[in-house]
Amino acid sequence: MELLAIASILSAGLVLYVIWNLGRTTTVTHQEPAIIHQRIPFVGHLIGLLRNGTRYFSDVNAKLGLPIYTLPIPGSRLYIVRSPELVTSIEKNPDLDFAPHLIHFARTILIPSSSAIEALEYNIDGKAGSIGCRIATQKTMQTSIAPGPNLTPVQGIIRSSILSQLEISDLTHRASPIRMFEWTRHLVTLATTRAIYGKENPFENIKVENALWTVDEGFGALLTNILPSIFASRAHKARQVLFDYFAQYYKRDGLDGASQLIKSRYEVNREHGVSIADIAHFELSVPIALLVNTAPAVFWTLYFVYSDEVLLRDLRKSFDTLANSTASNEKTGAWKTLKMEDVTESCPLMISTIQEVLRFQATNANARGVLHDTVLDGKYRLRKGGTVFIPANEQHLNQNIWGLNAGRFDTRRFLIKEKNGEKAKRPTNGYRAFGGGSTLCPGRFLAISEIAYVVAFMASQLDLVPINNH
Ligand code: HEM
Repeated sequence: MELLAIASILSAGLVLYVIWNLGRTTTVTHQEPAIIHQRIPFVGHLIGLLRNGTRYFSDVNAKLGLPIYTLPIPGSRLYIVRSPELVTSIEKNPDLDFAPHLIHFARTILIPSSSAIEALEYNIDGKAGSIGCRIATQKTMQTSIAPGPNLTPVQGIIRSSILSQLEISDLTHRASPIRMFEWTRHLVTLATTRAIYGKENPFENIKVENALWTVDEGFGALLTNILPSIFASRAHKARQVLFDYFAQYYKRDGLDGASQLIKSRYEVNREHGVSIADIAHFELSVPIALLVNTAPAVFWTLYFVYSDEVLLRDLRKSFDTLANSTASNEKTGAWKTLKMEDVTESCPLMISTIQEVLRFQATNANARGVLHDTVLDGKYRLRKGGTVFIPANEQHLNQNIWGLNAGRFDTRRFLIKEKNGEKAKRPTNGYRAFGGGSTLCPGRFLAISEIAYVVAFMASQLDLVPINNH
């Protein structure tokens, strides 16, 4: 009897909550961007997003072609932006900020203690006095992987790790097939984390690597934060494995051999009163940022290079021109040495190919929280508490920005062209692979160089053949 009463009260509460939310999320405020209604009431858009990720945005807008529109979700609304002009206004608008998204990411994915969240939230926009933990971390991330003395040793370790892994796996004499995506992901995970974490690298243990990719698979479900131990149980358990290994890493003085990136993040957190247990939670954001985009980008670049005979031939020619003849002997004949630094600095076709892969394959959507009610371009009212998304592929496939061949893969698109004797201008805000504005990706130099190294190592030495067209 008592149980029945509790169940009735809970159900009544749930119905009231749903009605309240429906009212909140479907009432159109004056000037608010057009609301897209959903087939399954209340949760239709959420289900669409969980199933299809950011592709859902393009699917919804494919026929409508709206410059901006509203997707109501329980308790909030998402504003999806397509027009390049609005992207420019968003980046200049102080009421739209990355911070709420970051805090949501910390609360739902990193799950540190409430005091660590407080440290992160303190003066998050930098407007009130001394710099808080978020801005200090952002600044240190920008300097500790910028080109120069911090990045150079990291790139060196990445190169030697790729080389040693390729030798170990003895690909040249391999008769059995390999699953390219998983193989590439493992190669990149080990090379990058060795360079970043040093001799105590937790990712030397395959359990830790597997845990990261399990978190990645369950990322969307974790972000919703609906009973993660039940609805995202594998990812929920996997993140605990990562937290434990990171805690052990600090105990074992792993920092002694770490890159500047890891050392300075640790120092910043300690200066802002974050405990070591909480730093181990925050640390999960590093391999996520380092690897979840870079590893697939390496795979896709290999895929496009090996799928196009002309591109492969042209790249090999460029590598051959860059390589120096160093020695010869009777057995092996003459050989040449290709310095990988030359590939990133002096092979424009390689860099153009990588930029085009990132344009063509982009699935990211930059997120900005609406801090106060605000009006975009004098036309669109956005309500406080909502989230603005700028899906990269909407910009990347826009013919007004990229021309009539926007939907085609063109490996030479980013080569500097001359127009009437002057360098042709590239669209500024139309390229969103690394985001833009104040949160432009600080890891872009590291990512591009790593992709270039893997492709140059592989393409200059190996042929790859698909099996049964896979
Ligand atoms: C191909 C690889 C990569 C892609 C496509 C990529 C993409 C992006 C994008 C789109 C953003 C902006 C997010 C937003 O404004 O909503 C971003 C931010 C960020 N990325 Fe990357 N990224 C890559 C590699 C890396 C690497 C290797 C690192 C190294 C740690 C990194 C660290 C970060 C960080 C820390 C931010 C947040 C910046 C801030 O808070 O201001 N990324 N990335």
